[in-house]
Amino acid sequence: MTYDTIKAELHGNVGLITLNRPDSLNALSSQLISELAEALKRMDKNKEIGAMVLTGSDKAFAAGADIKEMQDKKWPETFNEDFITDEWEQVANCRKPIIAAVAGFALGGGCEIAMMCDFILAAESAKFGQPEIKIGVWPGAGGSQRLTRLVGKSKSMEMCLTGRMMGSEEAERVGLVSRIVPDADLIEDAINTAKQIASMSRPATLMIKDIINRAYETTLSEGIRYERRMFQASFGTPDQREGMAAFVEKRKPKFS
Ligand code: HXC
Repeated sequence: MTYDTIKAELHGNVGLITLNRPDSLNALSSQLISELAEALKRMDKNKEIGAMVLTGSDKAFAAGADIKEMQDKKWPETFNEDFITDEWEQVANCRKPIIAAVAGFALGGGCEIAMMCDFILAAESAKFGQPEIKIGVWPGAGGSQRLTRLVGKSKSMEMCLTGRMMGSEEAERVGLVSRIVPDADLIEDAINTAKQIASMSRPATLMIKDIINRAYETTLSEGIRYERRMFQASFGTPDQREGMAAFVEKRKPKFS
């Protein structure tokens, strides 16, 4: 399948999606978001694929929603068409793990899409921000909620109220990104990390994503109760038997 605004490729059992609108720093047009949602849906359903990587260019992961495309929109048109529809949310709705590999700008909707992924690997050059305030609006694809949960109220308020950018070191320090890697190594590192995940038991990877995300949706005691029930269910999988037997027999597991 070919697309106009993204590239979608397979690297073994890993799906790699590259945002590809270089003239506009990967501004997130409605076409790009539709193509991204379509490609992710396909990869999520493809049994060969165990994890995905979402990346941009060395200059920009994405510089936000396409301002030129949306500048003439009016309310209630935005309300009636439910602007920022579930196509955006497809990134968060995938069941398989997605790694955001971010170099350069991840701003506005770009930062929001990166935060919808399961974790962010940042190149040294990465810059994150919610600069919507500078164009008279505010985050609309989950930024006010996800950024606040990730970095806390004080940092999130400052970022959203001033629109300033955060570099990779600060982003790692405050827990927005999991690791920083040299720019030249970003894609290879992200693909290798995704391959490592894809080589694990598939039910285990899907379940881990599910139970960690539950932490954002529920109380601690309910989350722990859910985790325990799911842990008990792991003993119904062939991969539990194989993984534990392989450990005892001092060999590599062969997950089915
Ligand atoms: C449309 C964009 C764009 C955007 C950059 N471009 N960002 N086009 N939408 N979000 C275009 C520029 O117009 C320019 O096109 C080309 O990309 C290169 O950008 P420059 O500004 O010339 O580059 P530079 O000077 O390096 O500055 C980079 C930048 C700046 C700091 C990232 O482009 C910038 O501030 N962009 C806007 C960031 C932003 O406000 N994002 C939030 C958007 S609102 P031409 O044709 O002139 O070469 C949002 C809401 C999300 O995301 C809520 C859900 C939808």
